[in-house]
Amino acid sequence: MRYVCYISESKAVFDDNALEQLADTSSKNNQEYGVTGYLCFKNNKFFQYIEGDDRAITQLIKNIVEDPRHQVLYSLADELEMRLFPDWNMKLLTDDVVNEKVLEDLIMQRMEVMSHSNWNKALSDRVITIVQTIAKIQKYNNLAIDT
Ligand SMILES: Cc1cc2nc3c(=O)[nH]c(=O)nc-3n(C[C@H](O)[C@H](O)[C@H](O)COP(=O)(O)O)c2cc1C
Repeated sequence: MRYVCYISESKAVFDDNALEQLADTSSKNNQEYGVTGYLCFKNNKFFQYIEGDDRAITQLIKNIVEDPRHQVLYSLADELEMRLFPDWNMKLLTDDVVNEKVLEDLIMQRMEVMSHSNWNKALSDRVITIVQTIAKIQKYNNLAIDT
């Protein structure tokens, strides 16, 4: 088992439709080859992470590198003990999806923090982290969170 991740620059136009289509075909192919991972696209750059059996990853990365719709700039690869994203054949991680997940997580953490009866150092560290993360997301997304 191994993973490869890379950053590439697009050489074709990728609008929302084209991206969804790419993620969709990739997801179907990857399911067949037992490959999992995710894809991000922003400012004309891709970030993709793929993981799976050595053979499948070697073949797929060859296809991807040869794809004229982009040019790979940097890549990283290593062996892997266990999949990090067993449920994602090729998840398109848009800002919306990321923020939704981060928010979901934050809300859960916030609920947990609020149910504590004694205030200690570990708890205050967590509270500060939650507040800072919400501030970052809000700044980034201009998203209002009601309390
Ligand atoms: C940024 C980017 C990411 C891609 N990711 C995948 C992928 O995860 N899986 C995949 O099968 N094809 C992916 N492709 C497409 C491959 O480069 C190639 O077109 C495809 O593997 C060929 O599949 P086919 O032989 O079934 O036509 C990606 C292409 C680009 C530009």
